[in-house]
Amino acid sequence: DIQPVILCGGSGTRLWPLSRKSYPKQFAALVGERSLFQDTALRVSGEGFGAPLVVTASDFRFIATQQLAECGVDPGAVLIEPSARNTAPALLAAALKVEADTPGALMLALPSDHLIPDAAAFREAVQQGVAAARDGVLVTFGIRPHRPETGYGYLKLGKEGAGPVVPLERFVEKPDEVAARRMLDDGGYLWNAGIFLMSARALIAAFEAHAPQVLSAVRAAVDHAEPDLGFLRLEPEAWSRAPDISIDYAIMEKAERLGAVPFEGEWSDLGDWAAIWRQSGADEAGVGLHGPAHAIDCRDTLLRSEAGGQVIVGLGLEDIVAVALPDAVLVAHRDRAQDVKQAVDRLKAAG
Ligand code: GDD
Ligand code: MG
Repeated sequence: DIQPVILCGGSGTRLWPLSRKSYPKQFAALVGERSLFQDTALRVSGEGFGAPLVVTASDFRFIATQQLAECGVDPGAVLIEPSARNTAPALLAAALKVEADTPGALMLALPSDHLIPDAAAFREAVQQGVAAARDGVLVTFGIRPHRPETGYGYLKLGKEGAGPVVPLERFVEKPDEVAARRMLDDGGYLWNAGIFLMSARALIAAFEAHAPQVLSAVRAAVDHAEPDLGFLRLEPEAWSRAPDISIDYAIMEKAERLGAVPFEGEWSDLGDWAAIWRQSGADEAGVGLHGPAHAIDCRDTLLRSEAGGQVIVGLGLEDIVAVALPDAVLVAHRDRAQDVKQAVDRLKAAG
């Protein structure tokens, strides 16, 4: 069986005010009735997959297990990070646990904030990566790019071989706009979907080669982890020594044996309000509405009234996102969606 590893420790600040420190986006019902986290777990439940290993922050441990119970998924281990150290330490902790429990196993690393409506197509793509992953390749999933997005990683495809996995020449994480535009025009690149299939052993070996400081800190934190009410709490002191770095920078940009399975199905990282707008079923004028919301003469605009029932009306707006909650309202230009983080920092500073 493939061991799914679900990462749900991020705080999703770019989706403020819906995503909060205490209740981040992956647990909110952003599109549809289930949360993205629940959709992620369901996508890989059933034949061929083990019970998901969940890696999350202490604050979210009960939300995570409760949401899994609600949708009838039995979690495997739940690893608790004493502090946020980004995805490299989180995935390495999972790999060390998986390798200790089931030596030689494959793990499927899954972000919990993605929308992938066609679960069957996704599972098929995963199966296409299995042989290469068993052979030690770190397998990524590639999405055909259609805008010079700077928030993603880019996969430079090498020459196609015999199997379904295309070898990669290069992995470029979060390029600047000029580089992103160049790679888009080049045509030989795919977006990194942020999902990885690999043997736990191969991932650990990659840390040994490219990020030994991460490995030593995380190994100690796993070796001294404490069981706690059914959760496994990583040892805080060792954990705090792990550098704060993403898997993309720590490993993927450096690893030698990378491959990609191109994924043709619909995929979206619902990372910011511009992405939610694209996903909102906007009409011909590009207007997306949610809750008691009305648009008059608006273009390319998202108006959302979240639980609380406040009526929101847009008049003559263009390229705006407005999101109303009972205690907070965001009004932003659509081009500034990535900067909503700054608003959250500002509020934090203001106390
Ligand atoms: N457990 C845990 N701990 N999870 C975390 C942490 C952490 O410290 N930090 C982030 N995550 C989770 C997030 O909740 C999310 O589900 C996932 O890890 C990825 O983190 P993001 O912060 O959303 O990454 P990104 O979107 O900027 O970039 C990644 O995904 C892109 C595609 O969506 C990269 O892999 C890019 O290369 C990729 O294109
Ligand atoms: Mg993301």
